[in-house]
Amino acid sequence: MIDNEGRVIDYLRISITDRCNLRCIYCMPEEGVKNICHEKILSYDEITRICTVLAGHGLKKIKITGGEPLVRKNMAVLIRKLKAVPGIQSVTLTTNGVLLESCYDRLIAAGIDALTVSLDTTERDVYQQITRRDELDSVLRGIEKAVAENRVRLKINCVSAMDIDTQNVLALLHYAERADVDIRFIEMMPIGLGRYFPMVSEAQIRQRIEERYGRLTPYDRPRGNGPCRYYEVPGLIGKVGFISAVSHKFCDTCNRVRLTSDGFLKTCLQYDYGVSLKPLLEQKISDEALWKVMEEAIREKPKAHHFDEGRKKREDEAKGMSQIGG
Ligand code: 5AD
Ligand code: SF4
Repeated sequence: MIDNEGRVIDYLRISITDRCNLRCIYCMPEEGVKNICHEKILSYDEITRICTVLAGHGLKKIKITGGEPLVRKNMAVLIRKLKAVPGIQSVTLTTNGVLLESCYDRLIAAGIDALTVSLDTTERDVYQQITRRDELDSVLRGIEKAVAENRVRLKINCVSAMDIDTQNVLALLHYAERADVDIRFIEMMPIGLGRYFPMVSEAQIRQRIEERYGRLTPYDRPRGNGPCRYYEVPGLIGKVGFISAVSHKFCDTCNRVRLTSDGFLKTCLQYDYGVSLKPLLEQKISDEALWKVMEEAIREKPKAHHFDEGRKKREDEAKGMSQIGG
């Protein structure tokens, strides 16, 4: 799959549900969250069909996201199905970790290739302020289990919603001191509620890490499927990574498209460009026609986001991050 800018698209992020067991302040409002009803959600067979067609044209890697993917019933069944699709080399999942401890064995048995836990802070009060729930202990138990069992690669993603000291983001690096766990810092993107938060930049976090641990050395070998730039840090086994869509725009090497839980093939995080596949699947479209529709949408993938331009544009995404899946 190749778009009009010559970018090779081989990575699909699938949001399997818009529901979540947390209410992070930059992602969801406290109350009044309207969930997509079950009939509108793609079934596991529909998702598998879309992936099979795309894999026939170069899709290699799949990321399962949400909302919170582990709240959807029998999610391991989907992982098993996707792992069996010819051409798919890896199926990974990003979770908030609340259900990780109880789901870990099933994820491994289904063949998951890597896990990412979103954890912005290990400070109890701050965790509760950010997520509006008191689930830190469950998340920490999930991470402990994943570290102890060490069956697949583990990453921790941290978004800065508050200042560096309040979130005490350096404390997350303890995981990388103990084990080969990558800690990745994600700049807040001005999408959905995220646009109301001040952006803590990569440079600020980098400086704090260097003050405590010493110089960061760029790690040049391939690692992961995306835009993260990794560094080696003295004293850490795991790497430190930065995903900085705002301060280090990476649109020119973007390799991905997204599928929302209601079946919209979304070609850029920021705009609502793409095509709704659910009605086509219900009309029993052929594989070939389905591919043509998807190919056309992918070809027209926008060249770049314009996070830096501030003002909201008409074609901007109206969905929140819980519907898109990050
Ligand atoms: N900017 C950056 N990351 C975000 N996430 C949710 N909203 C935003 C935003 N506006 C992150 C979550 C999780 C991932 C799925 O997306 O923290 O790590
Ligand atoms: Fe849930 Fe993730 Fe949104 Fe937090 S950021 S409310 S964990 S979907």
